[in-house]
Amino acid sequence: MVNELRIIKILTIIMQIYVVAGIDCKTPVKVDPFSCCPVQEMISKEIVDKCTGNSKKNSTMATSVDSKASTTSTPTDPKPNGALMHSCINTCVLNETGVTTGMDFKLNETRLTEYLKLALNGSTDLIPVVENSFKTCSSELQKKMQDKMKNSPSTNMSQDGMMHNTNCSPFASHLLECVFLKSLKNCPKSVQTNTNICNEKIDYMKECIPDTFDNKENSS
Ligand SMILES: *[C@@H]1O[C@H](CO)[C@@H](O)[C@H](O)[C@H]1NC(C)=O
Ligand SMILES: *[C@@H]1O[C@H](CO)[C@@H](O)[C@H](O)[C@H]1NC(C)=O
Ligand SMILES: *[C@@H]1O[C@H](CO)[C@@H](O)[C@H](O)[C@H]1NC(C)=O
Ligand SMILES: *[C@@H]1O[C@H](CO)[C@@H](O)[C@H](O)[C@H]1NC(C)=O
Ligand SMILES: *[C@@H]1O[C@H](CO)[C@@H](O)[C@H](O)[C@H]1NC(C)=O
Repeated sequence: MVNELRIIKILTIIMQIYVVAGIDCKTPVKVDPFSCCPVQEMISKEIVDKCTGNSKKNSTMATSVDSKASTTSTPTDPKPNGALMHSCINTCVLNETGVTTGMDFKLNETRLTEYLKLALNGSTDLIPVVENSFKTCSSELQKKMQDKMKNSPSTNMSQDGMMHNTNCSPFASHLLECVFLKSLKNCPKSVQTNTNICNEKIDYMKECIPDTFDNKENSS
């Protein structure tokens, strides 16, 4: 449970960073988006526990991310440790779901369908939303990875300041971030918490928070 909260916090921070970077939309709606739409259920507690445990038992890294999560009030970039931790957890999460394979994060659509049916417990409204998010995000990710390779064929993935640990790729974070964000923006009414603040939050995200692959160094 604690671990689950931790990964959710990490994702929430990412969204808040986007909010801060947002240009036109003046006032962020202050509610945890995951309390508005149960998309986090796509990653089971077992997987989160396994992956947060894998990254180090009761580690110093984990606590540094955790304390960052609770103290972040300024719009600074994630600390290298936090970003790295984040990458390692997310790489593990994707691998554990079986939805993508290896470090090239190619989507297995058969597995995706199978997995979401179980993870989202047959939620017929939410499943297609998440499924489409995965497909769209995955194809955007593949493009992004190819661009990176073209621009720097000799360095493998050190672009984002990550270490060369083959078990931790920032691309895993980009992909999950994209999937969560898209799914939240398209949250079906039937599963969305129907409160004013949640309605505002979802609208705010649609209007003000750019899609994951739109605003990152693709501006040229
Ligand atoms: C892990 O940390 C928690 C609290 O931070 C502590 O209660 C627990 O005993 C620790 N477990 C191990 C195996 O060190
Ligand atoms: C894709 O997933 C299906 C179902 O889990 C599995 O049978 C198949 O081997 C996977 N394909 C690849 C290329 O991993
Ligand atoms: C899954 O859905 C079924 C019926 O739709 C329900 O009885 C069951 O409690 C649900 N399980 C979980 C873990 O939510
Ligand atoms: C990364 O670089 C190392 C040597 O610097 C090389 O052995 C390895 O194959 C490269 N990995 C990829 C995925 O290109
Ligand atoms: C990915 O999953 C496979 C099988 O589930 C496992 O053997 C492998 O160690 C995992 N790799 C990573 C990097 O977690």
